[in-house]
Amino acid sequence: MFDGPFQHSIVKRAVEKGIVEIHIHDIREYTPNKHRSVDDYPYGGGSGMVMMIEPIAILIEKLVSERPYDEVIFLTPDGLVLDQSLSNRLSMSGNLILLCGHYKGIDERIRERYITMEISIGDYVLSGGELAAMVLTDSIIRIIPGVLSDETSALSDSFQNKLLSAPVYTRPAEYKGMKVPEILLSGNDKAISKWKEDQAVSRTRERRPDIYQKYFNEY
Ligand code: ADE
Repeated sequence: MFDGPFQHSIVKRAVEKGIVEIHIHDIREYTPNKHRSVDDYPYGGGSGMVMMIEPIAILIEKLVSERPYDEVIFLTPDGLVLDQSLSNRLSMSGNLILLCGHYKGIDERIRERYITMEISIGDYVLSGGELAAMVLTDSIIRIIPGVLSDETSALSDSFQNKLLSAPVYTRPAEYKGMKVPEILLSGNDKAISKWKEDQAVSRTRERRPDIYQKYFNEY
């Protein structure tokens, strides 16, 4: 499942440049039982299967005996909702373990004993933590210095300065009567910066009043 996203573009480049290493581990390979089962029925009844403690515990203990980890993160819809400031923080950390749950959940004792941080990528339920882990990985890796060739471009992203980004245009200057805003063709850097800032502010006010409110409370 991880091959597609991790074999492409920015994540792939970061790995090729030696800036990050990604290791995928299959929990099924750490099952002590001969059926290689990783899940079982929930105590107390209820629907769905629960991921068992032992294979996950064996794997995490093996990993932490091999190198130090800054966080052991469990991807779960009841975790802290991911935002840019959390990605920024994690991009400055060392090794991370991302644990993807499946089925109905994982045995709570894993969370109590091994997990240091729980992250959700939004208020909706995915069928597993894998897609969430890919989203988190991408958002962390792309902002590590040296990953993007134009280092300033990650900094001008939406959310990086706490506002949405201004709209962007490229050639042609006119297409079927639709014109690029005159100011962007003016060569007046100061006026262009001001325009971008104004656009970012008005776009944020219209589309994300929640973010807009926070921005003006802070500044
Ligand atoms: N696993 C299932 N849904 C998820 C979500 N929204 N965020 C993180 N992990 C998940």
